Amino acid sequence: MLDRLPIDDMLIDSTPSSWQTADTCPALGFAMTLIGLALGEPFGWAGQQDGRLVNSIVPTPGHENEQTGASSSVLLSPHTEDAFHPDRAHLIMLGCMRNHESIGTTLASVRDVLAGGYLSPDEIAHLRQPECPILPDDSYVGGDESQAPAPVGTLWQRDDGACLRYDPAYTPDSTGRPTWARAYAKLEAGLASVSQLVALEPGQVLILDNDVAVHGRVPFTARFDGTDRWLLRLNIRLADRDRPAAESFEPGFGQVVVRPYSEVLV
Ligand SMILES: [Fe+2]
Repeated sequence: MLDRLPIDDMLIDSTPSSWQTADTCPALGFAMTLIGLALGEPFGWAGQQDGRLVNSIVPTPGHENEQTGASSSVLLSPHTEDAFHPDRAHLIMLGCMRNHESIGTTLASVRDVLAGGYLSPDEIAHLRQPECPILPDDSYVGGDESQAPAPVGTLWQRDDGACLRYDPAYTPDSTGRPTWARAYAKLEAGLASVSQLVALEPGQVLILDNDVAVHGRVPFTARFDGTDRWLLRLNIRLADRDRPAAESFEPGFGQVVVRPYSEVLV
């Protein structure tokens, strides 16, 4: 957690009612980008928020019940950001522009689940096997819908410990075997048990390891009056991080990254 960059609630814009009407890069987003450049390579997605590098996460009328950052009325289920794609971020930065009601961001580490003994060795083995696909979330447009979704593993191992690739809201589980389904449910319960709630304050920036921790958001009632919760999100790629080799063959449903800093960082 970076605590904190200066934000004056009276000086920043009103909370926009959608990402489309948000400032493409408020001062906090610019600061996050500079910090992101010190950590790795900030990037965006061509099919998400029009390819913007800094995404605005705001409640949007008509999207209250979605499983996207534009929702409000429902629990945003704990998830790996962009779990459907092999090029998903290694780090996620969440910066707070406004959060008058201290609405909580949920955080849960798979390593706490394993350390807590929530999964048996057999269940861990089941969850390492590719069993069900993960589909793109509803914040994406375009892409290639014709691809047959390939099953992916949920748990995997990095040199420094266990990792996960997890997005239950976009995991059609009808093809999963009962043993896998039971293990997945145990993982879900374990993540809920170890989950922590962080109510970001303006100027605070949370940096998540997207391979180790899942994140979500508690439900809240949006007012759409310019004072709602407003977060900024930035994706970071790390050059020295590996993912399971099998992922490199995944086409990622035709979604492609936008990498404005790829050449300056070479
Ligand atoms: Fe997210």
